[in-house]
Amino acid sequence: MTSGVIDLRSDTVTRPTAAMLAAMSTAETGDDVYDEDPTVHALEERVAALLGHEAGLFTVTGSLANLLGIRSLVAPGQELLCEERAHAVRAELGAHAAWHGVTTRTWSDPRGHVDLDAVRRLMSPDAGPYLVSTTAVAVENTHNFAGGTVQPLETLRELRALVDPAGVRLHLDGARLWNAHVATGVALADYGRLFDTVSVCLSKGLGAPVGSVLVGSAAAVAEARVWRKRLGAGWRQAGVLAAAGLHALDHHVERLADDHAHARLIAEAVADADAGAVDPASVETNIVILDVGGRAAAVVESARAEGVLSGIVGPGLVRLTTHLDVSAADARRAAKVVATAVAS
Ligand SMILES: Cc1ncc(COP(=O)(O)O)c(C=O)c1O
Repeated sequence: MTSGVIDLRSDTVTRPTAAMLAAMSTAETGDDVYDEDPTVHALEERVAALLGHEAGLFTVTGSLANLLGIRSLVAPGQELLCEERAHAVRAELGAHAAWHGVTTRTWSDPRGHVDLDAVRRLMSPDAGPYLVSTTAVAVENTHNFAGGTVQPLETLRELRALVDPAGVRLHLDGARLWNAHVATGVALADYGRLFDTVSVCLSKGLGAPVGSVLVGSAAAVAEARVWRKRLGAGWRQAGVLAAAGLHALDHHVERLADDHAHARLIAEAVADADAGAVDPASVETNIVILDVGGRAAAVVESARAEGVLSGIVGPGLVRLTTHLDVSAADARRAAKVVATAVAS
C-alpha cells in the first residue's frame, strides 16, 4: 500500500488498479433502467453462465443482491433458515424483515457450515394456519464471520436433496464464492446449480470498486429487476462499473490463491506467538479470525499503532482479511506486527 498502512479490516477496501480504471474509462454504456447498457448485459450474462443459471442482475451491493434473491423465495410472513452468523441476518440491518416481512430461524455451527440435522429439525414447509412456514434456506460460502470457511460440497448436495421433496428453496450468499472456488477447485457452476438464487460480490476479493450480481431463473431475475427499481436502485450508465467487474473476472480470480497463502502466513505467525489464538489449519481462504478474549481492543490498537488495521467481529474476536492491495511483503510485515500485538 502506498500510504504504508496495511489495511486488513476487510477485502472491500481495495482501490481499482490502473488497468481496471482504463477498462472502465473505455466501457461502452447505455441506460440500464431502459435495459440498454451493453457492458452490464455482458457482465450479467457472463456471471449467470459461470454460475450455471439462466439470467443475472447487476446490483450496487451484495446486500441488495441478497435482499432481492431472498425476496424471490420467501413471501412476507414466511420463514428463511440460515446459520446464526450469516451476513444476511447479522449485518444487513434487518433489511429482509424491514422491507419484505421475512422471518428467520437459525442454527449454529462453529465453522458456519450447514447443519443438516438442524435444517431437518427446523424446517416446517407447510406449518398450517398457526405456525410460520419455511420456504427457503440460505447458505453463505465462504462464511465471513466464521472465518472465510468453505462449505463442503457434499453437504450442499445433501441439503438440496433434503429440501427438494419439501418444496423448500435455496439461496446462496456467495459474496466470496470465488474464494471457495479457488481454494477447492470446485467449479463455480457446481456450487451455483445447487441453489435457486445466488448472489456474488465483485467488490470484495475481486477488487472492483462497486457491484454484485444476483443470478437465478429468467423469471426470478425479471422480477428482481422490478424490485430493484422499486427500491430506488435502478441505475443508468452502470456499464462503467460493470466494466470493472468484467476486468476483475479476467484478471483477479486465480490470484485469490495469493490472498489465501497470505492469510495462512499471518495465522501461522500468530499461532507461533500464541497457539490458543488461532489454528492455522482452520484458515481456508482470505479471512483470519483470532480469539484473543478480553484483549481484542488492545490487539487492534497495538497493531494499528504499527500501521496494521484490523477489526473486531465479536466478543474477543479480531478479524484480518487479505486482498488485492496486500502484497507478500505486506503480509510478512503484518504477520510480525500482529503476532507481536497478540503476544504482548
Ligand atoms: C458474506 C457477505 N454477504 C454479503 C455482504 C454484503 O455486501 P455489501 O457490503 O456489498 O452489501 C458481505 C459484505 O461484507 C458479506 O461478507
